[in-house]
Amino acid sequence: MTISTIFLLIIIIYIINGSYQKQNDLTKEIIITKAKALFEAMKYTRKWNSSMGGIYVKDGINPDVKPNPYLKNNYIKSKNNKTLIYINPAFMTRQISDLTKEADFSYKITSLNPINPNNLPTEFEKRALKYLSLNLKEAYYYEFIDNKLNFIGGLKIENSCLECHSEYKIGEIRGGISVNIDISDEIIKMDDIKGSKNLLYIIIITIILILLIRLYMFLNRINADKKKQENILIQQSKMASMGEMIGVIAHQWKQPLNALSLINYDIKDAYEFRDLNEEYMNKSIEKSNFQIEFMSKTIDDFRNFFKPSKEKKTFSAKSAILDILNILNSQFKKSDIEIKIETKENNDKIYGFENEFKQAVLNILNNAKDTILSQKKKKLLDSGVIEILIEKNDLNLNIKFIDNGGGIPDDIIKNLFTPYITTKGNEGTGIGLYISKIIISNISGKIRAYNLKNGACFEITLPFIK
Ligand code: HEC
Repeated sequence: MTISTIFLLIIIIYIINGSYQKQNDLTKEIIITKAKALFEAMKYTRKWNSSMGGIYVKDGINPDVKPNPYLKNNYIKSKNNKTLIYINPAFMTRQISDLTKEADFSYKITSLNPINPNNLPTEFEKRALKYLSLNLKEAYYYEFIDNKLNFIGGLKIENSCLECHSEYKIGEIRGGISVNIDISDEIIKMDDIKGSKNLLYIIIITIILILLIRLYMFLNRINADKKKQENILIQQSKMASMGEMIGVIAHQWKQPLNALSLINYDIKDAYEFRDLNEEYMNKSIEKSNFQIEFMSKTIDDFRNFFKPSKEKKTFSAKSAILDILNILNSQFKKSDIEIKIETKENNDKIYGFENEFKQAVLNILNNAKDTILSQKKKKLLDSGVIEILIEKNDLNLNIKFIDNGGGIPDDIIKNLFTPYITTKGNEGTGIGLYISKIIISNISGKIRAYNLKNGACFEITLPFIK
């Protein structure tokens, strides 16, 4: 559940990020295209100048235009003695660049080996020019550094250039023009988009978190409802066994009651034969107290068992099982079923509700008893045996209940611990084992059943408690 939500979240973030990235790339693409167009325009303007062998402009019109010191014969006089200044392409580039600064772009002419030291390349320009002179097929070179476009277009030597740059060969890269475009507007726009992207993240994450919390609360409520339902079921099943239990009490009391009435009869006899001295009296009282104590203990055991446990505590598995065996003793004796209990470990601690654990054990034992009895009825078995083994390994405490009742049919064993499955034909609802399972899982344990040679084994595995 949570994993799939996180997965969904990652996909959403991935998509948003992807579209942001695309937008970012597109913006960069537009800026690059603009730089290329500006460079090409300048290249052809220069080419025009070069193809004219340089051009002449009137002196005095623009006070900044002075004869270029790097040119020989950098001005001429006209017939009417006006001065005409010689303008080479590089000079013109600078002039135009001065004008375009009003717009959001400018040019700089540069070379690795400039005639004019003002044309010395920057670090980026050096890198770019080296790259372009090694890769003659490439017309441009650019890098985005700190959200800025650094762009350069290469200038190839043509025939017309040789007039002034005779030391170069045609096709060689003489230098380049870097185009500087102010992209602060685009950066602001992209920052805006980035801001909305992050806002979108926050909104989506918040929504998903809220949904998760609500889902969590919903599941919690369902769980609480389920727990309540289970508790009712556990208590109900305990009450259901009450009727049967009263029969057990009646049976357990039969003998001591008999004994008591015998003692009474004896006293009467002794009295009639004048044998009733103090010693006889005390002995009789002692005997009847013994029986009464036994009866009262039986009742206490039952009362304790039917009280719902109030709080979890640590208790011994063996003594809890012995308590339940005490209650069931007479009933199992009557059915001629022997119960053996064996503990390999002295540490058999369980943490949980003791009475509920007893109830789980009771259900398992009753189930085993019923299978054994039905086997007996079919004359498939002489005497029933239930073995209880308490073992421990590094992590767990294992309690095994092994009976010789012939085992559980394969079709039943799969859903043994679901409600309304029964191993006893139409006799029971089978709810008992289901309840045992609930109880055991409530104390972080597991219960499973499998067949052995002569019967079934019900195994409870509980986390080991120090
Ligand atoms: C009329 C003469 C003339 C012509 C034609 C000419 N140049 Fe130049 N070029 C110069 C002078 C002089 C400089 C250096 C002074 C300056 O910066 O103005 C220069 C500078 C340059 C520079 C800048 C680096 C440096 O050395 O300072 C480059 C690059 C360049 N020229 C390439 C070309 C190319 C390519 C052509 C042909 C399309 C060309 N030039 C045609 C005279 C010329």
